[in-house]
Amino acid sequence: MTQTHLTAPLDERSAADLAEAGLRLALVDLADTAALDAWIVADMRGFHGRRPSAEVLEEARTNFGGRRTTAVYDERVSTPVGTVNSWVAPLTVPGGGSLDSWAISSVTVAPTHRRRGVATALLGAELRTAHALGVPAAILTVSESTIYGR
Ligand SMILES: CC(C)(COP(=O)(O)OP(=O)(O)OC[C@H]1O[C@@H](n2cnc3c(N)ncnc32)[C@H](O)[C@@H]1OP(=O)(O)O)[C@@H](O)C(=O)NCCC(=O)NCCS
Repeated sequence: MTQTHLTAPLDERSAADLAEAGLRLALVDLADTAALDAWIVADMRGFHGRRPSAEVLEEARTNFGGRRTTAVYDERVSTPVGTVNSWVAPLTVPGGGSLDSWAISSVTVAPTHRRRGVATALLGAELRTAHALGVPAAILTVSESTIYGR
């Protein structure tokens, strides 16, 4: 598995779209515990989870350690208003071989910032980054599959 997903640059198009709306797209530095914890809090909020305890945060930091972790910030609040993460995973194909695929997870937008195109910007950034890295497919585990058509 390649690690370039961690260092590939931020998608300029989505960063510009979000900047127009007064929001900032950024990669979370996985070594910055405070920033990663704030991202985890936002992710869990998105899925109606409780505010995580110190133990849950520690476990989540371990689980998310290898993932490209993207946040959308509204500078008026400390918790990210949008989250997504991604990594390169093997996708089994007919015949028994496998391809690299761009696995996408943790798509959330704060209730205060929904229906303004934040998720659209996050997903567009993921797909363009995968394409730029030559990853031939993207996969997504969804709880609301119908919203991804657009
Ligand atoms: C789903 C979620 C990420 C959408 O974020 P968002 O920033 O509001 O989405 P966007 O503004 O980019 O919307 C893009 C399109 O998605 C669809 N969509 C978004 N929310 C929708 C909803 N509640 N019902 C139906 N369609 C929806 C619409 O087609 C929308 O386009 P439109 O506004 O032009 O009609 C956000 O509601 C969320 O965090 N929900 C809780 C967590 C979750 O369900 N995550 C997805 C797991 S698969």
